[in-house]
Amino acid sequence: MNKNTRVKLNDDLTMPVVALGVWQSHEDTKNAVLNALKHGYRHIDTAAAYHNEEAVGEAIKESGIPRNEIFITTKLWNEDIRNRNTRDALKSSLDKLGLDYVDLYLIHWPAEGYEEAYLEMEKLQEEGLTRSIGVSNFRKSHLENLLSKVNKIPSVNQIETNPQMVDEETIQFCKENKIVIEAWSPLGSGACLNDSTIQEIADKYQKSTAQIILRWLLQKRIVVLPKSVHEERIIENIDLFDFELSEEDMNLMNQLNQHRRTGPNPDNFDF
Ligand code: A2P
Repeated sequence: MNKNTRVKLNDDLTMPVVALGVWQSHEDTKNAVLNALKHGYRHIDTAAAYHNEEAVGEAIKESGIPRNEIFITTKLWNEDIRNRNTRDALKSSLDKLGLDYVDLYLIHWPAEGYEEAYLEMEKLQEEGLTRSIGVSNFRKSHLENLLSKVNKIPSVNQIETNPQMVDEETIQFCKENKIVIEAWSPLGSGACLNDSTIQEIADKYQKSTAQIILRWLLQKRIVVLPKSVHEERIIENIDLFDFELSEEDMNLMNQLNQHRRTGPNPDNFDF
């Protein structure tokens, strides 16, 4: 593995294994994306609900990097799922991003009407407005329901995953169905960075706790989307390829799971 390593999706397209996440990057978004692209990131993860697609688009344009070298994900918001507004929502995202297509379009949450929304996304994929399609915050039960009603298995499921929060059942189901898992809040929104076990492992490898967590996820074949607006952290969060965690340390990390979410529960959200 190196900075340019890509994972193959079930539609035969590929995706870089590290992305910059921009949730809550606010007015720092453009600068964070420019820094990420400068330091070798080629994958940016945004969403309509983050209200920063324009800033992401501006940074992509200003970077001068050819469009086809950057993998861009955005997401369909719940209101647009409930209002059966999938097509217009993607067009609006494309307008804001200043792009003709996104690489990956995700259903942000399993809001009422997600099956219909996904069927519309299958059409949008055929029309080339998005290269791949997938879901986010789907648990096994949501995926089982979706798969019984649609034609294409999602390429990706983006879920909260970090040392304190591993939904093994959903991850196992995704593995069996060749759905790539992406980890949002891989650092537990910062909550996992001071864990004493992770600190001990970090000292041993002479890496930061953030790097240990991200490397642990990559070795579990999970794509990581760390968010930072600080250049030195952006650099650190993709500097993951000159060490490998031993099986023993992987197991120590696996034991930290408490099924403790920092974000909402997909079975019970109210937005
Ligand atoms: P900041 O953007 O100010 O750098 P997650 O991706 O799990 O949601 O975590 C994001 C949080 O962790 C943000 O508060 C971010 O702060 C912080 N963060 C990101 N990368 C690092 C790092 N390498 N070291 C310490 N904190 C980090």
